[in-house]
Amino acid sequence: MHRHEKLLSNNQAWVRAKLDLDEQYFQRQAEGQSPPFLWIGCADSRVPPDEITGSHAGDLFVHRNIANIVTHSDLNLMSLLEYGILELRVDHIIVCGHTRCGGVKAALGHRKLGILDKWIRNIKDVYHLHRSELEEIGDENTQWDRLVELNVREQLLNVAKTSFVQRRWDEGDFPVLHGWVYHVEDGRLETIVRHTREDPMDPIYRYDFSEPA
Ligand code: CO
Repeated sequence: MHRHEKLLSNNQAWVRAKLDLDEQYFQRQAEGQSPPFLWIGCADSRVPPDEITGSHAGDLFVHRNIANIVTHSDLNLMSLLEYGILELRVDHIIVCGHTRCGGVKAALGHRKLGILDKWIRNIKDVYHLHRSELEEIGDENTQWDRLVELNVREQLLNVAKTSFVQRRWDEGDFPVLHGWVYHVEDGRLETIVRHTREDPMDPIYRYDFSEPA
C-alpha cells in the first residue's frame, strides 16, 4: 500500500467509527458550522490544532501559514477573519506559535530562500522592534524561543488592529484574543498574552464606529 492510500483507508475506518457512535453525526455536520474559536497557527506538521487541544470537527475555524503571521495585505487571512469574526461570530481568537519554528529560525539567519524571504521579512520586523532585548540573550536557542513569543505578541496585536475585531468590540466584550506557544518538546500549550477590548493599543490604530462607513 502506498503512503497516501493509507490516508484514504484511515478515512474509511474513521467514518465507520463515527457512525458506530452516532448514526446522525454527518447529518448534523452537514447542517452548518458555528465554531466558538478562530485559530491562527503555523503550518508546521507537528502542531495539529485539533489534536493538541482535544478539539473536534466544528470547534475550530482555522488558518495556518508559515510562522503564524498576521499581515493586513494577506487577502486569504483577512477574508477568513472578516467571515469568522463578523459572520460566524467567534468568541475567541487564538494566535498560536511554537518552539522550534523553522520560519522563526530562518528570520534569525541570512540565507536567501526565494519568495519565502518576503514572508519571513515580517518576522525580521518583529526582531527589529525588539532588537535590544533579543541581543542581550547570549544563548541561541533561548533567543529563538523568545522571538517565537514576541512574534505571537506582535501577530496578536495585528489581529487587534483589524476593523473586524474593533467592530465587535464596539458592540461588546468579544472576541477575546489569546496568544499561545506550543512546546514541541513536551506538548505543552503556554499562554503568553491575552488581549481584550479594555487593553491599551496605540490610538492611531483605533477605528471610529460612530461615523457611518
Ligand atoms: Co513554525
